[in-house]
Amino acid sequence: MVATETIRRYPPSRDYLIPMLQAVQEEQGYISRESICEISDYLSLPESKIFGVATFYNQFRLSPPGKYQVAICRGTACHVKGSFNLLETLQRELGIEAGATTRDGLFSLETVACIGACSIAPVMTVNGEFYGRLEKKTVEKTIRELRA
Ligand code: FES
Repeated sequence: MVATETIRRYPPSRDYLIPMLQAVQEEQGYISRESICEISDYLSLPESKIFGVATFYNQFRLSPPGKYQVAICRGTACHVKGSFNLLETLQRELGIEAGATTRDGLFSLETVACIGACSIAPVMTVNGEFYGRLEKKTVEKTIRELRA
């Protein structure tokens, strides 16, 4: 029963599904398979429905975060300055899609909306540390250094 206490802070209504998922993720760092089962029991909702909601919103992670949590900003200012290409570079370097964690548990990758650092766009963060005015080669170098 990994998330029961957290879940039971909310009334057993499907109206509270998203706040429950947010609370579980806040506490565990991701939405585990077990917590989906527990929510399913509590709300009498099929697991597939909860899984569907959790995968629809990209704020939810379904795998444990990596040691290095990489987030690339996909807000407008960063997009205009090429963050899509940087996202592709990160995906290629890490061998995972956004929303996933590498098999060795070292890196997880996610996209985020504007993180308030537009003046240094394009921006990524690693465990909350900002890397601004990014270029492809800086991204590759940073990931290789962290991996080493
Ligand atoms: S759009 Fe990326 S920091 Fe604002």
